[in-house]
Amino acid sequence: MKRFYSAVGASDMAALRSICEVVDDPSYNVDWMRKWKGRSSVVVRPRTTEEVSAVLKYCNQRQLPIVPQGGNTGLVGGSVPVKDEIILSTRRMDSINGLRDGVVKVEAGVILENLDSYLKDQGFAAPLDLGAKGSCTIGGNAATNAGGLRFLRYGSLRGSIVGLEVATADGTVLDAGYSTGLRKDNTGYPIHELFIGSEGTLGVITKIALAVPASSAVVNAALFSCESFNQVRGVLATARRTCAEILSACEFFDSEARRCVLEYEPGTTDPLGDDAAFRVLVETSGSHATHDREKLEGLLTDLDVLDGVIAPDATKAAQLWRLREGISDAMTSRGYVHKYDLSLPLEHMYDLVTQTRDRVPPNTTVAGYGHLGDSNLHLNVVAAGDDENANYELAAVLEPWIFDRVLELNGSISAEHGLGQSKNSLLSRAKSPAMLALMRKLKHTMDPRHILNPYKVLPPSI
Ligand code: FAD
Ligand code: MLT
Ligand code: ZN
Repeated sequence: MKRFYSAVGASDMAALRSICEVVDDPSYNVDWMRKWKGRSSVVVRPRTTEEVSAVLKYCNQRQLPIVPQGGNTGLVGGSVPVKDEIILSTRRMDSINGLRDGVVKVEAGVILENLDSYLKDQGFAAPLDLGAKGSCTIGGNAATNAGGLRFLRYGSLRGSIVGLEVATADGTVLDAGYSTGLRKDNTGYPIHELFIGSEGTLGVITKIALAVPASSAVVNAALFSCESFNQVRGVLATARRTCAEILSACEFFDSEARRCVLEYEPGTTDPLGDDAAFRVLVETSGSHATHDREKLEGLLTDLDVLDGVIAPDATKAAQLWRLREGISDAMTSRGYVHKYDLSLPLEHMYDLVTQTRDRVPPNTTVAGYGHLGDSNLHLNVVAAGDDENANYELAAVLEPWIFDRVLELNGSISAEHGLGQSKNSLLSRAKSPAMLALMRKLKHTMDPRHILNPYKVLPPSI
């Protein structure tokens, strides 16, 4: 369905300027991967919920479309305009409003790393961690239901968010469990959950009440080298059994991903010298140094792997993590990345990487890595050279083949990054007509003038 929006005129600019700071800054138009570029010249930068509400109320009346933006680290083009939509940046909304009974209250624009440091000082930790922690915002994390490196331990972010404050399309401010910040509250529909993972299409999240775990006094990391994906799966199964309650992360990357990081970041080192097909990074977090160390050493003994090393201190552990967390940057530095973020049954997970290698032209980079403990594969493909035609040809080799394979295996075509403008056309393949119809109804009810993040999440025909 075609929608016609108003264009921003001089009187609109005056009205928006009377509400909050407005800037014209082209950097807000380009996403982190430099794949998607909008052409908006209006960025509103509210400082309070009241300002967000007033902007939305005005834009709704005028039918001016809006793209909410946090840290702009999303990987599916959700945070930048498709055309010239107004960008609403939450970056100035960055207050931490206190911690009580293990629930922290924050404004949406707080950077995840800043929240984690604040919590650490008080003996707590954020229940999520991402490679983008230095730039992404907690509002963006909630809007994408971000997964990341601590998912194995603390589960989905959805489970940790106990309440939200949200400004809806017409400017109404909903207190969806934010003020009370209760861990348990079964009075009525869990409305706040609607906004988690809705990628800015149903409302602008302004505040978050987040349940946080106690920080771990003892954190250890180990790296293992494996010659087959069966061995990789064996590490996960054994780590679950041997490390049990202290297991906090289990990530893997293949030799191609490892080669890319080592080439991109000259300071990065791999303490395991071999060139084996896979590495697995296991992290434990607990409270008793001797007990935790014994468990990790037990894992090293129990495992059937080529080699393994336990980081002797926090600096060495951080170096192990850099090997894994540096992969996204390393891949992006190689050119246009065809990025697939897939949930797949573990037994078939790596077959897709191998089959992809068999299909693509020689010298194409095909790297597999991801959150092993969550059955979440990141498959990244980069063409040799920077010829645009080669990229179109590569896309035709990869798609829809990859999506067909994933759906045949009952997997997900977007495990944790969302749909944005990059995967939204696939939603009708992933969900039934009845599900799509309900989503359409919901969007229309909550945002009848479709001003919130248009051309994203729902397929273009909707
Ligand atoms: P943005 O990119 O600004 O926005 C993302 C989406 O949320 C957009 O649709 C936007 O409109 C919407 N949005 C933002 N703020 C609000 C708000 N306040 N209210 C309503 N809607 C809003 N993702 C993972 O899941 N797991 C990972 O391990 C992971 N690792 C990453 C590593 C790197 C190096 C990078 C660059 C990205 C990674 N990501 C990962 C993707 C990304 O960081 C997450 O999606 C993150 O949650 C986005 O937060 P943000 O503040 O940057 O949001
Ligand atoms: C990761 O796990 O590193 C992120 O999701 C980013 C990526 O897919 O590159
Ligand atoms: Zn990831």
